[in-house]
Amino acid sequence: MRYVSSNSSGLVIKNHDLHPPEKDEVQIEVSYASLNYADILGIEGRYHAKTANFTPGFDCVGYIKRVSENIKDFHIGEKVAAIKQGGTFAEQVNINKNQVFKLKNNLCSRAVAANISNGVTAYDLVFHVTHIKPNDQVFIYGASGGVGSLLVQFCKYQGAHVTALTKSNKKQYVESLGADHLILRDRPANDTDKLYDRIFNPIGGESIEQDLLRLSMYGHLITYGHSSFQAGYLNTEIIHSKNLSILGYSSGSIMNDYPIKLRKTVHDVMNLVYKDKISTPIDSIYSMDEMEYAFEKMKNNRHIGKILIKMDT
Ligand SMILES: NC(=O)c1ccc[n+]([C@@H]2O[C@H](COP(=O)([O-])OP(=O)(O)OC[C@H]3O[C@@H](n4cnc5c(N)ncnc54)[C@H](OP(=O)(O)O)[C@@H]3O)[C@@H](O)[C@H]2O)c1
Repeated sequence: MRYVSSNSSGLVIKNHDLHPPEKDEVQIEVSYASLNYADILGIEGRYHAKTANFTPGFDCVGYIKRVSENIKDFHIGEKVAAIKQGGTFAEQVNINKNQVFKLKNNLCSRAVAANISNGVTAYDLVFHVTHIKPNDQVFIYGASGGVGSLLVQFCKYQGAHVTALTKSNKKQYVESLGADHLILRDRPANDTDKLYDRIFNPIGGESIEQDLLRLSMYGHLITYGHSSFQAGYLNTEIIHSKNLSILGYSSGSIMNDYPIKLRKTVHDVMNLVYKDKISTPIDSIYSMDEMEYAFEKMKNNRHIGKILIKMDT
């Protein structure tokens, strides 16, 4: 079977015989996987300090092809989704059953792929990591992206006032999500004095220090990524004097350490997709052979919503 790997010469497609699923594993025939910013970090050796020879792919949608002998609760042919820390950009993948979720047969595979990893992250951030209340002033970075698009939708659902950061060519899209106020990062800032109760920051670097100044008393800074490729550092004097809370989140770490904890979140998110209550637009769909274009597009922020990779031919 074919799978994608990255090494010092870039992204390459390799072939190997996948071994049968081991104890507690199922084998999935992958239909779609989504491209996440973590894949960009991963192939550059910057995702959670991993280095070369990384197989990208943090999620997939497909069908059960085989199950290990001890598995009784999954069956061949069932439609499933899975979340995994790397490795789903492959025609088939073996995954621990705790990271695999059954899907209704009539749930669109593309819609699942476009909402699963980003949906779990955005849902956990808004409903479990911090709690968004009506009229909270919320600031959302990367509002046109996979996680950002859903953060806007969830915060608006909670009745918050959303200020969203994006670029001017994506303004119309982010407005259509319901954002109340936009800041365009390719135009001069127009919010310099405003204070926020909650800031969702996946950027890291210098933005973190700036965010401490932009938080109101008792505010929460929720850090969940480092798209700037740099860690951020904190001034504790500001934190204690303003009674701020700094909250961190990684769905990947939870999926590794305690996958059962994400089961309810996946269920809730898939229910919202099924009922058409949330949606992330699909920017484009690439085949495995077109992978380089997909990565290049995301790295240069030329996408809106999600990019999917189609694994079956
Ligand atoms: N902790 C977790 O569990 C978890 C899970 C999923 C993702 N993440 C993190 O969340 C972030 C977003 O992931 P994603 O897959 O949604 O990515 P995405 O679709 O690429 O969206 C991110 C958007 O952020 C904006 N952006 C990029 N670099 C920026 C910068 N330096 N300053 C300000 N805005 C910037 C771009 O939008 P504009 O061009 O419109 O500004 C970009 O489209 C990544 O850092 C990722 O690693 C974390």
